[in-house]
Amino acid sequence: SVNLLTLADGQTMPQEGFGMYKITDQSTITSSIKYAYDAGYRLFDTAQLYKNEAEIGNALTELALPREELFITTKVSEPNQGYTQTIASVKDSLKKLQLDYVNLLLIHWPIERAFFDTWAALEELKKEGLTRSIGVSNYQMIHLQYLATQAHEMPVVNQIERHPHLNQLPLIKYDRAHQIVTQAWSPLGRGTILNNPLLEKIAKKHQKSSAQIVLRWQLQSGVAFIPKSIHEARIKQNIDIYNFQLSEQEINVINELHNFTRVGKEPALVYEYNLKY
Ligand code: A2P
Repeated sequence: SVNLLTLADGQTMPQEGFGMYKITDQSTITSSIKYAYDAGYRLFDTAQLYKNEAEIGNALTELALPREELFITTKVSEPNQGYTQTIASVKDSLKKLQLDYVNLLLIHWPIERAFFDTWAALEELKKEGLTRSIGVSNYQMIHLQYLATQAHEMPVVNQIERHPHLNQLPLIKYDRAHQIVTQAWSPLGRGTILNNPLLEKIAKKHQKSSAQIVLRWQLQSGVAFIPKSIHEARIKQNIDIYNFQLSEQEINVINELHNFTRVGKEPALVYEYNLKY
C-alpha cells in the first residue's frame, strides 16, 4: 500500500496520488475518483487552472468518501496571484470542492508579480485552517532562494514536472536538503516515454508494464508522484507497484534516459530576481 511521507510541518502525505489534470466532465471525474479510491489512492490533485474543482466537489459528496482519509491538493492559478485575490480565490475553490479545508495549497507557477504577497496569503490561509500545508509548484532553485529572503515559513512541497526525460536530480537534491518534498507531475511524461525499448526491456524482466516501471522508479527515487488516467485498468495498474523492486543498476539506466524534454511549459526564470537577489 501507499507510503506516507512526513512533511516538514508534521503533516503526512501519501507518496503516490491521483492527478486530475485534463479530466473535466462530471461523469468521468466521478468514475475515475471512484476507481482510484477503490484501488487505494487517497491523494487527489487538482488546481484552479484545471476548471474541475466543482466537479470534484460533486464527486466527493456523491461518493461520500470520508474526509479524514483524503488528502486534497489545489493550486492558485497565475491570474489569481496577489494577496487579496489569492485569499478570495482559495475560499472560492473550497466552496467548489465543498470542503472546509484542503490538505495542501500550492502556488501553481512562479511569476514575478506579487511573488511574496501570494506566499504571504498562503501563510495566512494556513493560519486560518483553510489548508493544512503550503507549498509551491514549478519552482526552480532561484525561486526557492528568492522566496527564502522574505518567507516566514518555507514550502513543504515543490511539485514539478519529472519523468525519465526530465529527471530533475539536482532540484530534488536541493529540495531534500531544504526539507522540501519533491512531487512529480506528469510522472509518466504524459505517456510519451512508455515505448522506450530500455523501459520495455526492464518491464519484461519484471513482468510489469513500462508505466509501472517508471512509477516504481519515481517511488524508489524518494519523490512523491501523481499519475493520471481515466481508465480503471490503468488506474489500478499504476498503484500496483508495491510488489517488486528495481535494482540500483536499473534505476541508473532510467536516470540516464534524461534528455531535458519537457511535456509542459518551462518555468519563467524571472531575470529580475537575479538582479534583485
Ligand atoms: P489515459 O488517461 O487515457 O489512461 P501523466 O500522469 O504522466 O501526465 O500521464 C498521463 C497520460 O498517460 C494520459 O494520457 C494517460 O492516458 C496515460 N496513461 C496513464 N497510465 C497509463 C498506463 N498505465 N499505461 C499507458 N498509458 C497510461
